[in-house]
Amino acid sequence: MCGIMAYVGEQECAEILLEGLQKLEYRGYDSAGVAIWDGQRIELRRCEGKLVNLRRSVAAEPILGSLGIGHTRWATHGRPSEQNAHPHTWGGISLVHNGIIENYVALKQELSARGHDFSSETDTEIAAHLIGASVQSGHDLHTAVRLATKRMEGSYALVVISEDEPDRIVAARQQSPLVVAIGNGETFAASDIPAILAHTRDVIFLEDGETAVLTAQSVQLFDADGLAFERPTKHVLWDPISAEKQGFKHFMLKEIFEQPDKLVDTLRGRISLDRGDIALDGAEPPKAILDALKRVVLVACGTSYHAALVGKTLIEQLARIPVEVDLASEFRYRDPLIGAGDLFVPISQSGETADTLAALKMAHSRGAHVLAVCNVVDSSIPRISDGTLYTHAGPEIGVASTKAFTTQLASMMLLAVYLGRRKGTLDPARARMLLEDLRTIPTQIEKLLEASDAVREIAKHFIHARSFLYLGRGVNYPIALEGALKLKEISYIHAEGYAAGEMKHGPIALIDENMPVVVIAPKSETYEKVFSNLEEVRARGGKVLAVATEGDLKIARFADHVMTIPAAPDYLQPLLTIIPLQLLAYHIADMKGTDIDQPRNLAKSVTVE
Ligand code: F6R
Repeated sequence: MCGIMAYVGEQECAEILLEGLQKLEYRGYDSAGVAIWDGQRIELRRCEGKLVNLRRSVAAEPILGSLGIGHTRWATHGRPSEQNAHPHTWGGISLVHNGIIENYVALKQELSARGHDFSSETDTEIAAHLIGASVQSGHDLHTAVRLATKRMEGSYALVVISEDEPDRIVAARQQSPLVVAIGNGETFAASDIPAILAHTRDVIFLEDGETAVLTAQSVQLFDADGLAFERPTKHVLWDPISAEKQGFKHFMLKEIFEQPDKLVDTLRGRISLDRGDIALDGAEPPKAILDALKRVVLVACGTSYHAALVGKTLIEQLARIPVEVDLASEFRYRDPLIGAGDLFVPISQSGETADTLAALKMAHSRGAHVLAVCNVVDSSIPRISDGTLYTHAGPEIGVASTKAFTTQLASMMLLAVYLGRRKGTLDPARARMLLEDLRTIPTQIEKLLEASDAVREIAKHFIHARSFLYLGRGVNYPIALEGALKLKEISYIHAEGYAAGEMKHGPIALIDENMPVVVIAPKSETYEKVFSNLEEVRARGGKVLAVATEGDLKIARFADHVMTIPAAPDYLQPLLTIIPLQLLAYHIADMKGTDIDQPRNLAKSVTVE
């Protein structure tokens, strides 16, 4: 996620913009820029890398003026570079944008045909051209923004200034947060509260489809039809630290709650229900590679490895292609059989994990085609892959991965359907059905998150537990592994994930009244089999926490505590069953008082072996 800060008032604004952007630094970014009206024209300054680079540039050559916009960019389309950094300018306007313009390829073609040249690889530049062209054709800035946004599909928080109207800022929002703030003879727009807290606490949150016109003295609001309306300001009481977490106690909890939105971002623009098919944003392997495809090899570490395990089942079931899954640290040292005919898929949130990177290099050098699944644009893994399917989870700050995992799961589903369609194992009608189901998941997760307090009540019983066992079968076996990993990482309670069928081959010896057992048992093909594990645990006095399908009365008789998910087809269950387990781990750790966002001994990105 990128950061936006904009100012109009009486003060010199360069420092105000830079300071505001600095307050948004925690969100992560890879380049930054400002555009300021200097009394003659809009002056633009952009730098790759950290804000300090931009600060140095502005200090060396100050830009004076009291109307300006600033941005920190976290790359989604196009690598981190000065050219791709915001603001983008065209035709006397300058703008910053958060979000993704889904139909930017079509809009770019249309603008190119009208003679427009582009200087960046971004989707955002399209918006600058659309608005600039509209202003040049005689529209005022607000009208131009409204007309342009009507043509844009996707998500945006847009903040725009124009050389023709240098007393105002126009802001527009669609599915990407944007707040306007009112000070004394000055107004602000920002993507997030921390940016403006040093100046004022009186804010108005924009809603989808709304636009705002800000001058030093006023803020005018307009609804989706362009009709002016009023909304009272809110006085925010957040302290700066909790403002960074948007009121959540920890980044991890914030990120758990962001999952519905992030999954919408992952799916956005990639699903065609008409064709019952998937687009991989240009990462599609060439036809010759697909025709010769014999095997898929998924390689990753930690949580990303668990997503790979789910991916194996999805791809094998839907595309009927053999899939191998390996831990990157094992793969790279076992002289693996890999080469032409293999599609090698490294999965990584950070794109920098040393073992995954080394495994990728080995697979590449032996002739495999590499399609990465990654969250951080232009990180090391995408840079050396043949193509990348980005997960679009936004920066993940909590060390324990949550939203990166669920967006990886959704990406696995996209890849499975894509391969199934190429291999002819999925016809458009069945693919359409699968994709329609997939599109309901964000809403279902939203509902699951409402049970957070209920999960906390359950968690209260287990804060003194020394050891947990997590059991699951089929696609829910990797979720048992992931649930256990989440718990141990942040609560420091020992936890093991097991394939439920393996319980009687060893771990059953551990079970007694002191051993809580989390059984993932939603209604599925293997429901009855998991159920027998559950009885075995009960018979030995173990405490059972079940993740079960809503309305399952039978399980309620055997389990001490039940966390429910809505009924869902097997292949989508991992996206739901993991949610209560993330919450369980979080609440246990929170009640134990551990350092949840930075657990001991762990680093967010493991760039060494
Ligand atoms: C666990 C976690 C780690 C990472 C692993 C791989 O919560 O975050 O297990 O999943 O270090 O990292 P990436 O996905 O960045 O390659």
